[in-house]
Amino acid sequence: MSKTILIATEKPFAGEAIVKIRKIIENAAGYHLELLEAYNDKSTLLKAVEMVDALIVRSDKVTAEVIGASKNLKIIVRAGSGFDNIDLDKASEKGIVVMNTPGQNANAVAELAFGMMLGLIRNKYDGTPGTELKNKRIGMHGYGNIGKCMAIIAKGFSMKTYAYDLYLSKAVVEQDGVNYCKSAEELYSTCDFISINIPANEETIKCIDYKLLSKTKDGALLINTARKELIDEEGLLKWMEDSPRFLYASDIKPDCTDEINKKCSKRTLFTSKKMGAQTAEANINSGVASVNQIVRFFEDDDRIFQVNE
Ligand code: 3PG
Repeated sequence: MSKTILIATEKPFAGEAIVKIRKIIENAAGYHLELLEAYNDKSTLLKAVEMVDALIVRSDKVTAEVIGASKNLKIIVRAGSGFDNIDLDKASEKGIVVMNTPGQNANAVAELAFGMMLGLIRNKYDGTPGTELKNKRIGMHGYGNIGKCMAIIAKGFSMKTYAYDLYLSKAVVEQDGVNYCKSAEELYSTCDFISINIPANEETIKCIDYKLLSKTKDGALLINTARKELIDEEGLLKWMEDSPRFLYASDIKPDCTDEINKKCSKRTLFTSKKMGAQTAEANINSGVASVNQIVRFFEDDDRIFQVNE
């Protein structure tokens, strides 16, 4: 019997990506595609997952309720990197495999980070003199796929690159010609620009707090294309008040957006919706990878990139 793959994306993939995904599914005999795009209520998703065999999502919340509503689901693929939107325990309890597609949208996120950094240091293009990236120090807080893309782009701007990653050795970081920092404190106190590229989990939530922010140099810029939960917003607000030249750009509006903008709107830049992975190329890469991973899982029990136990 044919297997149903549901793509449920509150923030739809580019049309080109859907065309490619559809082709792959048609060519892999025994599968068919269901599409649920730009839905805006949970009940639609609950109904849509009921009879499907595989689910592809982006930042869509795959809660215990959603997983519970599915009768045939065997695999969920997060088309992207961060899987904090999926209830892994519930999936494991029901024997459902959860995967992500690491690296597939990394370049898009890194490019957006530079776009936002440039926007902010050029005073949002308001006509007043700004500053440049050239010869400045950029630090990657987390040196995974996005951090690596950031380093490559930074070198094109003649920036000096630094990275801190809890899970990587000095040798691994240095082999890319990137300076190694042994702690987040060292990174934050060394760099003019700091890019957050770590996942949100129990260990990292609110790890960027007042204490860490207070290590930053005068006039430093923090760019967050990761998750808002990583920031202790009380600490951020306080630091923005205490440090009148500190700049904060984020692809995820903080909960305290109104308050922050009331006090220092000139020093912040936020996207209206999470935009990092929102390019045709990233959608194609992560969408196609998701389908291929699903087909290989069903055909060969290939569990590459499984993130639950
Ligand atoms: C990711 O974790 O891959 C990025 O945050 C992109 O998320 P999105 O697919 O919801 O844009």
